[in-house]
Amino acid sequence: MSANEFLSFVSAAPTAFQAADETAKKLKAAGFTPLLEHERWALVPGGRYFVTRNRSAVIAFSVPKDGFTHFQIVSSHSDSPTFKLKPNAESDAAGHYVRLNVERYGGMIMATWLDRPLSIAGRALVRENGQLVTKLVDFGRDAVLIPNMPIHFNRDINSGFAFNPQVDLLPLYGDETAKGTLTARIAEAAGVKEEDVVSSDLFLYCRTPGSVWGAHDEFFSCPRIDDLECAYTSLEAFLTAEAKGHVNVFAMFDNEEVGSGSKQGADSTFLEDVLFRASAALGLDDAAARAALASSFMVSADNAHAVHPNHPEKYDEQNRTFMNGGVVIKHNANQKYTTDAVSVAIFSEICARAGVPVQHFSNRSDVAGGSTLGNIANAHVSMNTVDIGLAQLAMHSTYETAGVRDIDFMIDALTEFYKTQIETHGDGLFCLL
Ligand code: CO
Repeated sequence: MSANEFLSFVSAAPTAFQAADETAKKLKAAGFTPLLEHERWALVPGGRYFVTRNRSAVIAFSVPKDGFTHFQIVSSHSDSPTFKLKPNAESDAAGHYVRLNVERYGGMIMATWLDRPLSIAGRALVRENGQLVTKLVDFGRDAVLIPNMPIHFNRDINSGFAFNPQVDLLPLYGDETAKGTLTARIAEAAGVKEEDVVSSDLFLYCRTPGSVWGAHDEFFSCPRIDDLECAYTSLEAFLTAEAKGHVNVFAMFDNEEVGSGSKQGADSTFLEDVLFRASAALGLDDAAARAALASSFMVSADNAHAVHPNHPEKYDEQNRTFMNGGVVIKHNANQKYTTDAVSVAIFSEICARAGVPVQHFSNRSDVAGGSTLGNIANAHVSMNTVDIGLAQLAMHSTYETAGVRDIDFMIDALTEFYKTQIETHGDGLFCLL
């Protein structure tokens, strides 16, 4: 069952660094060649390649044997809301505890992080043979916990409580004997000596295992469904689809949850650099590369909101979406989503061919809603784009819920997308082959 495979992917990907690493492993196993951004690229028709940036974002592409007219891209993101350890993270509490000083990364539902086992993962830069080397770090065990106050000291907790992130959300790391041990734990997880750890980017993550449940096992819950579900399903589709007439591209950016504005986020040159460099290495001059981009198509895949069973009134009357109802196309008049009539027409035709149901999501007009990376990426490489996702509950909780059948719906829709040649015959004139 795809849900169980997805749950193993999630547990192997506690942070964006491990998500990128798992993705790279799958790409390598499927015969993709790693390219390095700081080197020149020699590419061949029929070749399959991938590039990582910052070890937390990945772009992979497969080149057809007999030339190509454009790119077909699915983009997603590797990061999820969490807490990041500050430097000098150990902090004394009441002379008897060691807490870790953390700050928020992204907009999480804070209460969901309390009273559950958490661990620590990310990356460290270490000294090794005269070099500075990146090592993945994962404590891989219950390591910290953010305890609630007892209700006897906080009678208002059930009537809307404002958590102060500097006071209420610092995780407990140990008793007084834990003092001065954090770097040793990091070194151990990185497989190096304590004195060789130079720096780190470390995050908390939820250790609660994923679960498939519901009257007929129709739901699953686990951490980081947003957006690993789209990252995973787009990768599965990308790995199996053969490129014909166009270059298929899988893009997984980092830092979507904090606005995408990093070198490895959607608001960077990463996608542009890869598409232009690939074009040049395959013999396209600048004009030909721009023509290819102009007729390219992007699917921006980031999860959507399922109607909450206790609050159906919060959702638009006509454009509300449900788990297991198929792929969600997201609409926003103010262009937070890129979707328009052109991209809906093209993408919904593809879903129909794949036999995948499509649902349309729009916020109530008195609700601001969220944003994603499609419009941000479009500012760098502009092309027809559709914003899609799968309907889920409790977005940005540390333990989210989605529909089991939707995983296969998304894989099927994106496999069909990668297989279909979307030809541009004029401005607003298309042919799907
Ligand atoms: Co997201």
